[in-house]
Order: sequence, then structure tokens, then C-alpha cells
Amino acid sequence: MFRNSVAVFVVVVVLCAPVKALAQDADPGGTLRRACVECHDFRRICRNLGEKSLAGWEKTVTRMYSKGAKIDAADIPALARHLHGLESGSGEICK
Ligand code: HEC
Repeated sequence: MFRNSVAVFVVVVVLCAPVKALAQDADPGGTLRRACVECHDFRRICRNLGEKSLAGWEKTVTRMYSKGAKIDAADIPALARHLHGLESGSGEICK
């Protein structure tokens, strides 16, 4: 039984590795919480939730990336989609 769960675990890890390598941030919320408070707090982001279009968020995240935000360029679309999907005042950002 124990050996079986180890085998399943190994298979899952091996299957997931290439998916991870193809980008698509698995935890965009966590990335934002880590990478987007280095220069300003979340209030600046919070104010814009529910306001910006998806294209607007892509522009902003791209600008933050060029300022030095520690995110992967490949994750910009996923992060922008995540921000665009959050409602105004979302507790994830606006606590
Ligand atoms: C290297 C410093 C830095 C990091 C890291 C950073 N920002 Fe910013 N951000 C700024 C500065 C400086 C401004 C004000 C000037 C401007 O808007 O370009 C700003 C302004 C903003 C604004 C308000 C202006 C607008 O276009 O709506 C938003 C929203 C924003 N940042 C979101 C983010 C997000 C999301 C992240 C994480 C991906 C992030 N920031 C990471 C420096 C940073």
C-alpha cells in the first residue's frame, strides 16, 4: 500500500513536470502576493480590480515586469487573466 502511493506520487510528479515547464502559472494568486508588493502595497492593485479590461491588466503587468517585478514573462497573460477575474474589493488582494 505504502509502496503504491509512492509510485502514484512519482507518476504524478513526472506527468506534471512538463506541464509546469510550459508555463501557465499554477498559483497566480500566490505569485501576485509574492511579486507585487515589493514596490507598492496591494492598495494600488485593489483600486483597479473590476475596473481594468483584460488588455489593460496585460499592459499593467507587462509594465510592472519591465520595472523589475519578479515574475516570468510567460506568466503575464495568466496573471492578467487572474487579476481581470477578481471582483472589485476581492479579499485575495484587498485585505
Ligand atoms: C519594481 C517595482 C514594482 C513592482 C515589483 C510592481 N510594481 Fe506596480 N507600480 C510600480 C510603480 C513605480 C507604479 C507607479 C507608476 C506607474 O504606474 O507606472 C506602479 C503602479 C501600479 C498600478 C497602478 C497603475 C496602473 O497602471 O493601474 C498597478 C495596478 C500595479 N502597479 C500593479 C502591479 C502588479 C499587479 C504587480 C505584480 C505583477 C506590480 N504592480 C509590481 C512599481 C512596481
